Amino acid sequence: MKKLKLSNGVMMPVQMMGTSVWDRKGSVRVLFEKMSRSVRHCVTNQLAGLDTGRDYNNEEQLGAIFQDILKNGVCKREDIFITTKVGNGQQRNKNMNDEINKSLCNFKLDFVDLWLLHWPLPEYWIDNWAQMCEIQKSGKIRAIGIANCRERHIETIMKEGLQMPHVIQVEHHPFRTTEELLELCSKHHIQVEAYSSNCLMLPFVKNNDVLNKIALNHNKTVAQVIMRWHIQHGVIPIFSSFSIEHINDNVNVFDFELSKEEMKNIFNLNNDYKFHPESLNCPGY
Ligand SMILES: NC(=O)c1ccc[n+]([C@@H]2O[C@H](COP(=O)([O-])OP(=O)(O)OC[C@H]3O[C@@H](n4cnc5c(N)ncnc54)[C@H](OP(=O)(O)O)[C@@H]3O)[C@@H](O)[C@H]2O)c1
Repeated sequence: MKKLKLSNGVMMPVQMMGTSVWDRKGSVRVLFEKMSRSVRHCVTNQLAGLDTGRDYNNEEQLGAIFQDILKNGVCKREDIFITTKVGNGQQRNKNMNDEINKSLCNFKLDFVDLWLLHWPLPEYWIDNWAQMCEIQKSGKIRAIGIANCRERHIETIMKEGLQMPHVIQVEHHPFRTTEELLELCSKHHIQVEAYSSNCLMLPFVKNNDVLNKIALNHNKTVAQVIMRWHIQHGVIPIFSSFSIEHINDNVNVFDFELSKEEMKNIFNLNNDYKFHPESLNCPGY
């Protein structure tokens, strides 16, 4: 698993796999079984880090998988990079220490690698962020960040004189390239992580002419071209997949390189498409 260095020196995988089942159709029980199979494959073969959140309702299930894998000596704790998030409901409790303790208890682990605010919840997020900065010193978390973060949140942190996030996680893919945000993050040494990094492989993505032409050029799939595009411009893609074949494809992207022109052509696909409606999850966002 290739890694890059965050601003505090923590090494983070260049690719992450997500574990949310909420955008999938079907019985929750079956979806959780499929997700477990993907997680086992990913962790056992050290293919990518893992992304979850308290609101995904799977911390305990993931914890059981980690304990099993660690007990059997398949890999060591430091080989698994785990991100979790504090959801809006938990943020309203205003006690971040309780929340990290609950997550650690669910995972049966001593620390998580990356802990994110799931949303910058108006009236709550900045005080909770200040608490997270303090908690980090306890060793329960190796790095902290904010998901669904915009330029204005970074500016607020600066104004308040608080510590900058090590990572922000936003919807980012060839149809939403968030270039101003990338620029601001680069200025402040904040690592950007892309969720829905394959833009859920929606039909307009799968059938896009530009992506298909580039894929053909390199004898790769459209998903591999998208993964490579993220990694080549320094963003960590979080993909999700219930298919072992797709997972293997998504991580098999280090034997080719996109040209400057191909990179530019992919950036030019941007039309600010957003799959995840923000205001539903975070009123006032
Ligand atoms: N912070 C937030 O608010 C937030 C919001 C959304 C998501 N996330 C995180 O980001 C993760 C990923 O998001 P996402 O599920 O939208 O990711 P995604 O990878 O863009 O979309 C997943 C879809 O793409 C398909 N897919 C993946 N790899 C493929 C491949 N190589 N070939 C063909 N199809 C492929 C999957 O189908 P198959 O199963 O058939 O492969 C699935 O239908 C989530 O699990 C979660 O951890 C965070």
